Amino acid sequence: MHEHSFQINYKSYSGINELAQDDINLIEAARKAAQNAYAPYSKFSVGSAILLENGKIVTGNNQENAAYPSGICAERVAMFYASSQYPGVKVKKIAVTAFSKEFKVNTPVAPCGACRQVLSEYENLYHSDIELFLQGQEGPIYCLKNIGSLLPLAFSSSDLEKH
Ligand code: THU
Repeated sequence: MHEHSFQINYKSYSGINELAQDDINLIEAARKAAQNAYAPYSKFSVGSAILLENGKIVTGNNQENAAYPSGICAERVAMFYASSQYPGVKVKKIAVTAFSKEFKVNTPVAPCGACRQVLSEYENLYHSDIELFLQGQEGPIYCLKNIGSLLPLAFSSSDLEKH
């Protein structure tokens, strides 16, 4: 028997001004995207902004549905849009933020499991880390070096290869 463990490292910043200007811009783009979320059911508006290697920033927000499970998170809207508009262009960074009209979101918002799976697909595809910035409406910003660390032992395309 062998015992194994995973460790996740992340940085936390107490204010946005501690970040580089490009990263501030990405978080601001996510904040702006959250304003256009369609979240009448949860009233929890999420925005996501993706920086591509070609310098473009692609954004998305959560899109809910009366048939609740048919809705989709901000991260997947942004990621699928990026991949559909810029196929083959490496994804460098993603920022996620959220606000609610009903309470203050003062802790960082992390991608759900399904979004981690989707984001990790592109990290594997481009053999390149996707850096993550997470922030609530206010409060600290968490920065993670890659998606893989948020999804240890992930299922990936390599599991589908015949040996
Ligand atoms: N949501 C996102 O868009 N991204 C996340 O990281 C967490 C949750 C959305 C899904 C749903 O529309 C609402 O937030 C409440 O769960």
